Amino acid sequence: MKILITGGCGYIGSHTAVELLNANYEVVIIDNFSNSKRDVLDKIKVITGKNFSFYEGDVCDKEILRQIFSENKIDGVIHFAGFKAVGESVSKPLMYYRNNLDSTLSLLEVMNEMNCKKLVFSSSATVYGDCHETRFVETIKKGTPSNPYGKTKTMIEDILEDLYHADPTWSITMLRYFNPVGSHSSGLIGDDPSGIPNNLMPYILRVAVGQLECLTIFGNDYDTPDGTCIRDYIHVVDLAQGHIKALEQLLNNEPKIRIYNLGSGQGVSVTEIVTTFEKVNNLKLNYKYGARRNGDLPAICADPTLALKELGWKTTKTLEDMCRDSYNFIIKNSQNKN
Ligand code: NAD
Ligand code: UFG
Repeated sequence: MKILITGGCGYIGSHTAVELLNANYEVVIIDNFSNSKRDVLDKIKVITGKNFSFYEGDVCDKEILRQIFSENKIDGVIHFAGFKAVGESVSKPLMYYRNNLDSTLSLLEVMNEMNCKKLVFSSSATVYGDCHETRFVETIKKGTPSNPYGKTKTMIEDILEDLYHADPTWSITMLRYFNPVGSHSSGLIGDDPSGIPNNLMPYILRVAVGQLECLTIFGNDYDTPDGTCIRDYIHVVDLAQGHIKALEQLLNNEPKIRIYNLGSGQGVSVTEIVTTFEKVNNLKLNYKYGARRNGDLPAICADPTLALKELGWKTTKTLEDMCRDSYNFIIKNSQNKN
């Protein structure tokens, strides 16, 4: 089976490419390197010992998509390509709406033309928005995300629902990720944002290797056991394996539209992450407590029951694994840069 991965050089896409190649799928990647580096391609080959096809280009460009589908018999698509920085989406909304929506529409139109109607889409827990639950199950009504990035995910989910209802020969699985962290155990690929990171783990890593001075924990006066926010962190390799399960289901069953939470089901506080990171990596992190960050909800956690029941998938990696593998990546990556 041949799978097209859009955004396959990015953080989650590269880990998924590794898992697909390990599971003996043929892989075709398209990426424009807007948020990734070319050397990821070689790293995927080193990790897997396998080859794959790569097209450098923009998923908004229907011509290159047509070329890919003409040159390859694609059985299914996993669509990761898109911009993902919440803060940047607030300052550059048009860029986010254009890239995330346009890439998806172009992809869907060309898939339709080429009669390839099997799609796994990277959605996010952000679509639950500000609904006043702490444990999200797929059946609760979506909320309103507070930022343009989140709104693009909600809009794309709505577009996919409409598409399926208009043409039930489509098979679509929307995966709502919670908080992906960690790296492949080789330390070769990982989350490597440019500039000052916004997300917790990349920020911790920069502090750990001395590139940033101090982590600010945003708020310790929440109504949670230790006062800091709770999130559901998921190891990126578990997440990648969730895509393989979703794909297997999609390729081997009747067309349907499906939604799954991909999370561990375990809430972890910011302070817990920091202390676990220090313990497993045997170091001290410079951190302080600061003001709450605008828009943060106190506690968010997946109910991953449906993914276990229907995909036979659950997380296997621990918080210790996430902290150890993340640090291994930054250590190897800083060494490579020197
Ligand atoms: P990433 O930025 O590391 O990877 C995205 C990749 O897509 C990059 O390699 C980038 O160069 C490429 N890309 C972007 N726009 C493109 C375009 N128009 N044409 C071709 N390539 C393009 O992001 P990630 O963390 O791997 O996330 C993958 C997907 O998962 C995204 O859609 C993201 O919104 C979603 N998601 C991520 C998280 C997270 O915390 N990382 C959480 C929920 C959902
Ligand atoms: N945090 C800090 N200090 C930092 C960075 C983060 O204390 O320097 C805290 C945040 O306040 C939050 C937790 O760490 O409590 C996690 O923050 P992240 O920014 O890593 O992740 P979020 O939960 O805010 O957002 C993530 C994804 C979004 C997605 C959202 C959906 O980054 O793309 O989950 O719930 F929309």
